[in-house]
Amino acid sequence: MAYRDLRNYITALEKKGKLKRVKKEVDKDWEIAAVCRQLFKKISPHNRPALVFENVKGFSIPVVAGVLGASRNIYAIGLETDSVEGINRKWDYALSNPIPPRLVKEAPCKENILHGDDVDITKLPVPIWTVGEDPGPFFTSPYVITKDPETGVCNVGTYRMEIKGPNKTGFLIGMRQDAAWHIRKNEAQNKPTPVAVVIGADPSIGYVSVSKMSDALDEFAVAGALRGEPVDLVRCETIPLEVPATAEIVLEGEIPPNCLEREGPFGEYTGYMGPAGDQPFFNIKCMTFRNKPLYQAFISQMPPSESSCIRGVGREWPLFKHLKDTLHIPIKDLRLKEAGGSGAYLVISLKKQFDGQVRQLMYGAWSMRTGFGKITLVVDDDIDVWDDFAVDWALSWHVRPDRDIYIEKDIQAVGLDPSQAPASVPQHHPSRYHGSRLAIDATRKHEYPAISLPPKEHLAIVASQWKTYGIED
Ligand SMILES: Cc1cc2nc3c(=O)[nH]c(=O)nc-3n(C[C@H](O)[C@H](O)[C@H](O)COP(=O)(O)O)c2cc1C
Repeated sequence: MAYRDLRNYITALEKKGKLKRVKKEVDKDWEIAAVCRQLFKKISPHNRPALVFENVKGFSIPVVAGVLGASRNIYAIGLETDSVEGINRKWDYALSNPIPPRLVKEAPCKENILHGDDVDITKLPVPIWTVGEDPGPFFTSPYVITKDPETGVCNVGTYRMEIKGPNKTGFLIGMRQDAAWHIRKNEAQNKPTPVAVVIGADPSIGYVSVSKMSDALDEFAVAGALRGEPVDLVRCETIPLEVPATAEIVLEGEIPPNCLEREGPFGEYTGYMGPAGDQPFFNIKCMTFRNKPLYQAFISQMPPSESSCIRGVGREWPLFKHLKDTLHIPIKDLRLKEAGGSGAYLVISLKKQFDGQVRQLMYGAWSMRTGFGKITLVVDDDIDVWDDFAVDWALSWHVRPDRDIYIEKDIQAVGLDPSQAPASVPQHHPSRYHGSRLAIDATRKHEYPAISLPPKEHLAIVASQWKTYGIED
């Protein structure tokens, strides 16, 4: 049965041993970020839990972190499946079988309603993530709801929000994001963009919020299909938008047209600070929230992180399908490596059929999205893309640099890529977007000698009687 809300989901995670409650008092302005970093450093993905910080110094609201993607296992639980393959099947089904949301009148998210000057988001326990570098606290897990003013289609997206005052935040919305188009369409008519921001909801809302999909799709309908039941929506108090009825916290307001303010810098998913720049801002008119609300945050910044986990899971499967099913290229597997923020560094294994197929493959991958595979490495299908040593081995011995390296210039780069421009160059400066990319063909191009390993059957015999050698207990 679908998770009702974030609370119900947290209980499910706890029952599966995938959530820990931190009872010790923690300081949101330095300690939560450091604990979350150590969580990723010290605990392997398989054992890594999500966290609820129950005792945040100076606040009565708990902070929830890692619940959507402290690991791929947790992502699977969020989608009520048991494996990464199950996640992919759920996404496939949901994208082609959306379930429209249902409008309800009564909603837990209306248990408390504050208007105008009574709104004070500084009372929320919003952590500082890159202490000493970020200008202050940022919302890292907002589900930002806007509507296309022309089509009326609803969009949900996650875009960082800098707290600028009790009822004002900044936004960093990438130029190609759906909400950016909504803002531009409203601005063309000098109209403000109504915005609702949800913090904390059932996990299906979070997964659609961070995932790219056709702008013709209502993302709440996709969330409904992911959870197997319609999402209950309720009308906002002050703007013509609807929000999930069981949301923990909702902010309602507007982005004024053609007004920009300095935003950032912010510790980014690349592992470096993202630069400051002039960005739209959000004036909050109303805040509604449940009794005893939970504050939810994504763990991002230096990979590996919750952010790189979610991005990887959400991107690898659509890219795999694009290459295999749409372009019919016989790839075996692919991996967007987390060190590259699950975007910059792509490894693909290919059952190569003819010379030149690697070129077809690299252009196929790049055509899916400009940001994927700034470094693209293609290996033969006997190399496991998840085995770093095997990939390095292929890179070392299957590549002749004078022949097997392709560089493509004058392409659109990822604006947050720190190799594009010095840190002082603002976020939307053109130099951040004019880039290049590299493909390395690490497949074998001629007949290779035999591999210098004992025969497989000898290794199997020794493995089956390993203890008898007395080397390991
Ligand atoms: C933790 C996290 C933080 C993100 N922050 C931003 C951000 O600040 N700005 C942005 O444009 N995209 C950000 N993204 C990526 C978008 O959420 C993602 O591209 C999503 O598809 C955007 O929604 P849209 O496709 O409906 O526009 C973030 C993703 C994650 C997982």
